[in-house]
Amino acid sequence: MSTSKNQRKLQKADHYDDDDSSYLRYWDGRDYEQAAEEIAIRTLLKGKKFKKAVDVGGGYGRLSVVLRDYADEVTLAEPSKQQLDIAKDFLKNKPKVIPKLAQAEKLPFKDNEVDLAMIFRVIHHLPDPIPAFDEIARVVKPGGYFLIEFANYGNFKNRVKHAAKFQKLPVDPVDIKTAEGEKKNSIPFVNHNPKTVRKQLAQSGFKVEKTLSVSNFRSTTLKKAIPKTALVTMEKAVQKPLAKAYFGPSTVYLLKKV
Ligand SMILES: C[S@@+](CC[C@H](N)C(=O)[O-])C[C@H]1O[C@@H](n2cnc3c(N)ncnc32)[C@H](O)[C@@H]1O
Repeated sequence: MSTSKNQRKLQKADHYDDDDSSYLRYWDGRDYEQAAEEIAIRTLLKGKKFKKAVDVGGGYGRLSVVLRDYADEVTLAEPSKQQLDIAKDFLKNKPKVIPKLAQAEKLPFKDNEVDLAMIFRVIHHLPDPIPAFDEIARVVKPGGYFLIEFANYGNFKNRVKHAAKFQKLPVDPVDIKTAEGEKKNSIPFVNHNPKTVRKQLAQSGFKVEKTLSVSNFRSTTLKKAIPKTALVTMEKAVQKPLAKAYFGPSTVYLLKKV
């Protein structure tokens, strides 16, 4: 394999090894978003049981711990040493999660070894997610599941913005780095068009079974005005009905490996 192809395949986000940024602290004040993501996972996995699950790019294990309710063993596959160090503490007294230094494009499993793969909040760093999807397809067994969350460029707000300018939604990933972010981060930050992601997943061998619209009320104003419990109840009620319209900023697909 040529070097350039290797470089294209391994898209590592060194930002998460940077001492100046704390992904753990990022979650302070984001209880609503945390609850919204947990609701989505639990809705889509309800009644399912797996032997081996993997949380790809799972950070410090924020959501790996949720997967424990659905799998006998959960591998936290994460390329950042700093995140894995934080995980040591975060996962204390939370059995069944096995942290491993690994990235999406090179997972530590044999072909068809995994029953459930999950990837949340990772592909906004992967403008080209195909190598990661192909690798996940390699390790997930036929009939196994893949749960993916991604930042949805086609959300309601963006569609209104584009319609107002008589513009079509771009099919390619959209760079959303702010000028400030640009200075601080060398890693990509993109939002994806859900139709493009569906096509890419289909090419890797996954079929969408269910879709949810997630974090539908992610707004500083709403979070200040409405108590968290009420927001979370509303979120739970709308994730399914709003999915067809790709309303929220975050989309979750439950896919089956065909
Ligand atoms: C925003 S954090 C999300 C972490 C975790 N999934 C969560 O939802 O809390 C993004 C994570 O993606 C990881 N990451 C970046 N590039 C990756 C890649 N190519 N393969 C696997 N993980 C990657 C980073 O190290 C980081 O832990």
